[in-house]
Amino acid sequence: MRVLVTGGAGYIGSVVNEALLQAGHEVVVYDNLYKGHVAAVPPGTPLIRGDLMDREMLTQTLLQHEIEAVVHMAADSLVGESVLDPGKYYRSNVVAGLTLLDAMRQCSVMQIVFSSTAAVYGEPAKQPIEESDPLRPVNPYGETKLAFERALSWYSSAYGLRYASLRYFNAAGASAEHGEWHNPETHLIPLVIQTAVGKRPVLEIYGDDYPTKDGTCLRDYVHVNDLAAAHVLALQTLTSGDICNRIYNLGCGGEGYTVCQVVEVARQVTGREIPVTVVKRRPGDPAILVASSERIKRELGWDPRFQDLSKIVGSAWTWLQTHPNGYPE
Ligand SMILES: NC(=O)c1ccc[n+]([C@@H]2O[C@H](COP(=O)([O-])OP(=O)(O)OC[C@H]3O[C@@H](n4cnc5c(N)ncnc54)[C@H](O)[C@@H]3O)[C@@H](O)[C@H]2O)c1
Repeated sequence: MRVLVTGGAGYIGSVVNEALLQAGHEVVVYDNLYKGHVAAVPPGTPLIRGDLMDREMLTQTLLQHEIEAVVHMAADSLVGESVLDPGKYYRSNVVAGLTLLDAMRQCSVMQIVFSSTAAVYGEPAKQPIEESDPLRPVNPYGETKLAFERALSWYSSAYGLRYASLRYFNAAGASAEHGEWHNPETHLIPLVIQTAVGKRPVLEIYGDDYPTKDGTCLRDYVHVNDLAAAHVLALQTLTSGDICNRIYNLGCGGEGYTVCQVVEVARQVTGREIPVTVVKRRPGDPAILVASSERIKRELGWDPRFQDLSKIVGSAWTWLQTHPNGYPE
């Protein structure tokens, strides 16, 4: 299939491109490069430098490349920033998303896989979180992703759009070719690795008095290769006509890991010391966030292969060693 990957020059998108290409699909990347990197796009893959708000550029791209389906990953995704600037998040995650859907409709491209987030659940009542649990986002990031999910459902009933929405928390790790390079970086594993190589003097841990085994927050980390495989699987199931209009969590499949456990594993993997300091809790950080992946395993046969934390951290470490300054700009 010919697949448009929005946000395909970003972290997860770069690995989704790889997985799509490996599965025999053709990929066209659509990215405004505001956070993405040209070097994150595989050589030979068309990169359209365009914004999701640019309806004309979108329709032109869909038509010119005879696109059959879209994997939609372009978004703003910083929780803290979303609280300070909700307008930006409504524009990028809702208005721009609807512009994409309308361009798709205009060009009769009626299949989409959406990278949602487990932030749609807010502070969950139970763990692990299931897809049927209450949706109570506590920040504009989660709220705007949920708004787009709901738009998918309405576009489906009104216009026949077929969709799959994937909700997950912490993408982590790297493929052999592509890794995580954000500025600013807010995700734990790259911060830990950057501390290991001395790019940061110390890792700040936000609170050690949570009701978890060592007092630090416990989270769900999913290897980016496994996430990419889930996107391809969802797309293939969607387009083969078997199952559509489904929402799936992508979780780590186990109990998750505390911040201290992540640091300990990183010390073993890197052989470095990794100094840490405990600072006060961040407002709105739940003690535990772990998603259940039973539905996607049962319905689509998703089979994550890199769940072990040392594999996740090890791949991020290897990537940073081969790309000490990230991607060339
Ligand atoms: N990283 C995670 O842990 C995580 C967890 C859950 C969900 N997600 C979702 O997965 C997706 C990808 O996340 P990521 O970490 O790879 O992010 P990223 O910032 O690395 O990639 C996003 C890409 O989208 C592009 N982009 C943003 N707005 C755009 C616009 N208006 N027009 C065109 N391009 C635009 C950026 O330039 C960037 O290349 C996002 O939708 C995010 O919400 C990420």
